Amino acid sequence: MLKLQTIDQELASAVQESIVQNFSEGLPEDFKASVFRTSDPRHGDYQCNDCMQLAKALRQAPRGIAEKVVAGLEGHAALEKVELAGPGFINFTLSTEWLENRILFLESDGQRGIPQVGEGQTVVVDYSSPNVAKPMHIGHIRSTVIGNALDRLHRACGFNVIADNHLGDWGTQFGLILMGYRNFLDKEALEVSPVAELERIYVASYQKSKEDESWLDAARDELVKLQAGDEENLKLWKSFVELSLMEFNKIYARLDVRFDLERGESFYNDRLAGILDKLKAAELLQESDGAQIVDLEEEKLGVCIVQKRDGGFNYATTDIATVFSRVEEFSPATILYVTDERQQRHFQQFFSVSKKLGIETDLQHVWFGLMRLPEATFSTREGNVIKLEALLDEAERRALEMVKASSPDLSPEVQAQVASAVGIGSIKYADLSQNPQSLVTFTWEKAMALDGNSAPYLQYAHARIRSVLDKYAAQFPEGKPEEAPYQLAEPLERDLGLKIARFPEAVLMATRTYRPNLLADYLFDLAQTYSTYHQSIPFLRAEPGVRESRMRLIALVADTLKDGLKLLGIETPNRI
Ligand code: ARG
Repeated sequence: MLKLQTIDQELASAVQESIVQNFSEGLPEDFKASVFRTSDPRHGDYQCNDCMQLAKALRQAPRGIAEKVVAGLEGHAALEKVELAGPGFINFTLSTEWLENRILFLESDGQRGIPQVGEGQTVVVDYSSPNVAKPMHIGHIRSTVIGNALDRLHRACGFNVIADNHLGDWGTQFGLILMGYRNFLDKEALEVSPVAELERIYVASYQKSKEDESWLDAARDELVKLQAGDEENLKLWKSFVELSLMEFNKIYARLDVRFDLERGESFYNDRLAGILDKLKAAELLQESDGAQIVDLEEEKLGVCIVQKRDGGFNYATTDIATVFSRVEEFSPATILYVTDERQQRHFQQFFSVSKKLGIETDLQHVWFGLMRLPEATFSTREGNVIKLEALLDEAERRALEMVKASSPDLSPEVQAQVASAVGIGSIKYADLSQNPQSLVTFTWEKAMALDGNSAPYLQYAHARIRSVLDKYAAQFPEGKPEEAPYQLAEPLERDLGLKIARFPEAVLMATRTYRPNLLADYLFDLAQTYSTYHQSIPFLRAEPGVRESRMRLIALVADTLKDGLKLLGIETPNRI
């Protein structure tokens, strides 16, 4: 059976074939035709600019090349019209009948037409990864939301995904925390909000160590004891990890985020010395000022310290050990690491060292910029740390006000459920709808705008279609839209059909570029097109037959919005 392709891929294959047939000589060996969607409908649905680029290699005028390519596409089932434009552009207009068949297929396909390009491949997604005894900061929120969307997108493309929460649960801070615990602990506070209290004692202990040399020594001793497996210290450390996890898990539950693994840095502890041996055997290790380093100056990446002067191992050492462990256990094709931009150098360094040690896995740092939160965003803001819980509470509170106003007839329980979907969805979408690498300023007005690019706008579009479908079912109880053939007769209808058919393309693009915002853009565009359709085309008052076909089409719009938002981790209640 032919492998399923997205529309752009299908057209690109056809162009490729026509070019190869026409120009066997002079064609660059690595030539790959590419076709992309047009932004201006006057240029058709898709376009190809390859002939311009090929002109030089083929020593022919681009227009002449394009003419031959077009001739070779004659009779292609998907195409109604292929036009030459300007000096050598090719514009494609899809056949409407072919489009109708395509959306019919998407409707019945379990994967909604998404090519299963990841079949047989494993991807580890390392995301969220907060640090024990410290509250999650805004960077961890973004990592959680973006990482989870990448997790869902890869699963949708057929990859075997292993979502791993690489907790910062090991390291020098535990000496100070142990000292703080023994000297400054407020037991009551620990019960009420454990992570905040652990952080408080850590900060207090850290400050004391600055003034008091002997305190620092004592903390070092505690750390050495912990690392040597001292029973008492290990027990305390475990309780710090558990308390922190309990709090993180509350947040994950609210965000509908689940991990396959929660292996903290401590999991790799026994492997660290082995990494040093490997580096030594590969003659990569150097001594510098008592520390063990790998010199990466040649690649302009500075030096990577793998063992400190006091014998302690570093963040990078743990990450190298983690790569080896993951490769051994899962043989992943790719490992994605989702963190903020400040860690770019760290990842470049340990990726380079891993390669030198023979790791062939594709290692990708998916970094994101910082998110700015204007001063007035939260009522409860302490210092620089924004409490994620406060952010989510505030979102749900605002959403509840909205839902109470729009759907006063719903029961308070349902209102609360909807408010949670809208509130949490707003936070996620505000993040996911931006290019991850740009600086984002969060405002409630933007995140919750009912008339802009926001989760509530998309959720509302979905709910509005459901309500039309309910009205239809009430008025025409005998009607069977699911049996009416799709008819993309009106231009707006055809546009809607074309956009539905592009769903797999948008998903694949977002997955391949690690940019969930490309899917968000797509969904916003689809919802806007629907909104225009809704305002200009009668459905319930349309003549029988046409009415059913339209019901079927808008139901597919609703399902596409639902599936797409689901891939961003956002729910779509039937009413909002
Ligand atoms: N715990 C780290 C932090 O909070 C993030 C870890 C990211 N993952 C990794 N494998 N280094 O900054």
